Amino acid sequence: MRELAGKTAFVTGGGSGIGFALGEAFAELGMKVMLADVEADPLAAAVTQLRNRGWAVHGITCDVADPASVERAARASFDTFGTVHVVCNNAGVAARGGIDDISLDNWRWVLDVNLMGVVHGIHAFLPHIRAHGEGGHFVNTASMAGLNSGLGFSPYSASKFAVVNISEGLAARLKPLGIGVSVLCPGFVRTRINESGRNRPERYGPASVPDPASPAGILRARLIELTQSGIDPVDVAAQVVSAIRDEELYVFTHPGPGWRAELEERFGAILAAMDKAASRGRP
Ligand SMILES: NC(=O)c1ccc[n+]([C@@H]2O[C@H](COP(=O)([O-])OP(=O)(O)OC[C@H]3O[C@@H](n4cnc5c(N)ncnc54)[C@H](O)[C@@H]3O)[C@@H](O)[C@H]2O)c1
Repeated sequence: MRELAGKTAFVTGGGSGIGFALGEAFAELGMKVMLADVEADPLAAAVTQLRNRGWAVHGITCDVADPASVERAARASFDTFGTVHVVCNNAGVAARGGIDDISLDNWRWVLDVNLMGVVHGIHAFLPHIRAHGEGGHFVNTASMAGLNSGLGFSPYSASKFAVVNISEGLAARLKPLGIGVSVLCPGFVRTRINESGRNRPERYGPASVPDPASPAGILRARLIELTQSGIDPVDVAAQVVSAIRDEELYVFTHPGPGWRAELEERFGAILAAMDKAASRGRP
């Protein structure tokens, strides 16, 4: 979608980090923006900050894990702006644990937000975008953790692999309708992702912090360090804008050799296994 000025964007997780930067970038381009977030106070502050710059920005509290909440947010966006063109299914949380002790609550919470949140966003907005016929674009936030298994056995990686897959499938189905899809796969970005527990609903039980001396605790400390030295969310948002304009499926904000090597290792292992199967005479 080349022309963004005058169009409308809906962004989940818009109160912080990458979501806020997306909202800011869209508003700066002359788009109308609906920020949606489960955390009311930071959301209100984000909306105020952008409105003070004279931009058409609104906010709505929304829990992406709850389909009814996403439907309500979608209706509020239609009521406020008429049509929505760009939908960023971006809200996400991280919760980890050791290989033996990732709680089932952690699995459910992370999959409900990171995976079902994306599904709910597509479900709530696709019929609308298809019906207005003005074109549109979905941006689904995955991660490099959705393309390689570097984090090990993890609900976060599992959710992000699913988001990559959903986006690839959706892109193929929506292309003939003139609706674009991008999947955002960042490495480390300087945000509050490591404080995800601030939004953990009680229904998923208490958050557990791993023993700092355990392998899970050491990994957690390392991930916090890497995130704090990550890139600015503003850089990520600029690349997303380009991807929407150029109709690019994959958005890689960290194409450096380390990340590339991890992908090569994974895809190399998959292709080597296929070669081995072929050498055994499999069809
Ligand atoms: N920061 C990184 O290094 C990094 C890397 C790869 C991918 N990502 C992904 O980027 C996305 C944005 O995260 P971020 O890094 O900006 O972190 P962040 O914590 O700064 O922002 C996430 C936002 O999502 C909101 N949120 C959480 N649960 C929600 C729910 N149930 N419903 C609605 N909103 C909810 C939070 O309140 C917050 O405003 C996530 O999907 C994350 O997995 C982040």
